[in-house]
Amino acid sequence: MRQAGRSLPEYRRLRAQSTGTILDAVRDPGLATEITLQPVRRHGVDAAILYSDIVVPVAAIGFGVEIKAGVGPVVEQPFRSVTDLDRLRPLDPDADCPYVQDTVRSLVGELGDVPLIGFAGAPFTVASYLVEGGPSRDLGRTKALMLGDPGLWGRLVDRLADIAIAALRAQVAAGASAVQLFDSWAGTLSPDMYERHVMPASAKVLAAVADLGVPRIHFGVTTGELLALLAKAGASVVGVDWRVPIDEARQRLGPDVAVQGNLDPAVCLAPWPAVAEAATDVLVRNGGRPGHIFNLGHGVLPETDPEVLGRLVELVHAWEAPA
Ligand code: CP3
Repeated sequence: MRQAGRSLPEYRRLRAQSTGTILDAVRDPGLATEITLQPVRRHGVDAAILYSDIVVPVAAIGFGVEIKAGVGPVVEQPFRSVTDLDRLRPLDPDADCPYVQDTVRSLVGELGDVPLIGFAGAPFTVASYLVEGGPSRDLGRTKALMLGDPGLWGRLVDRLADIAIAALRAQVAAGASAVQLFDSWAGTLSPDMYERHVMPASAKVLAAVADLGVPRIHFGVTTGELLALLAKAGASVVGVDWRVPIDEARQRLGPDVAVQGNLDPAVCLAPWPAVAEAATDVLVRNGGRPGHIFNLGHGVLPETDPEVLGRLVELVHAWEAPA
């Protein structure tokens, strides 16, 4: 349940008390630890996801990224030409963002048996923010760079792959039990463009953390036509949004990967019986097959009633596959 915190009054209270943006909150291990724990405490979910953001590493090396509330990441000087590569030096996690590893270590102590999921942004999705300068519906500039200067594009995503590798390895070394690679906007690409211009960099990241022996979750939205490729990139789990029923997603993915998903977050705004019906449908479609992580197909919407999320966790925990 990503961003479960946003629906919680206790999260809003903490964020209102602290001055600054979410990036400032992430730089404070005490605060980031507390925020990560809030949904676990309240809802009893089976795993925690680190409170951080996909732009933390590029911000930490000084690319000039901020996160505007209600907008998302914005970049002061977007990536435009080969000289901008000089602004993307390698990430040294211990020197550049020790607070992330400090938060992970403090969480591992607090969480006990509950596993902590670390994460990084996939090269394409992070590149899209650097190139567009902020959120964009069509990612026009990003695709224009990819197709217009594939050499420069390749160097950009390769650097971002190295940054993601360093970030993920540091989180696992500090105690994270699984990693998730968020390629949230990969679904804007055709399978051909994905395979040619994006998959190699993501595959590099996933291969470079394979030796750590932790599950590797690979996630994007509107990726129905890309599911097989997301698996092929080297994931052990593929996150699926609600647009593809999970039984159909399993067919597209084959037997060798686990699935994560896929209740529509907007459904959680409906009256409880409708939520229960939709959640049960996800469970029935998976049919008790092993290797299913139940979650929402994307982040929790801020206006969600936390009571509904609590009941949802209970429903999933109580559900048993028909014999
Ligand atoms: O679930 C969690 O809260 C864990 C921490 C987490 C955040 N961002 C905190 C956050 C994680 C895993 C992310 C990843 C992330 N960040 C992604 C990939 C996952 C996805 O949702 O597809 C992306 C695309 C981003 C970039 C980003 N950061 C966006 C689009 C936004 C939303 C802007 C908004 O306010 O609507 C952010 C801000 C952000 N990151 C918030 C949180 C809790 C909300 C703002 C805040 O609390 O200040």
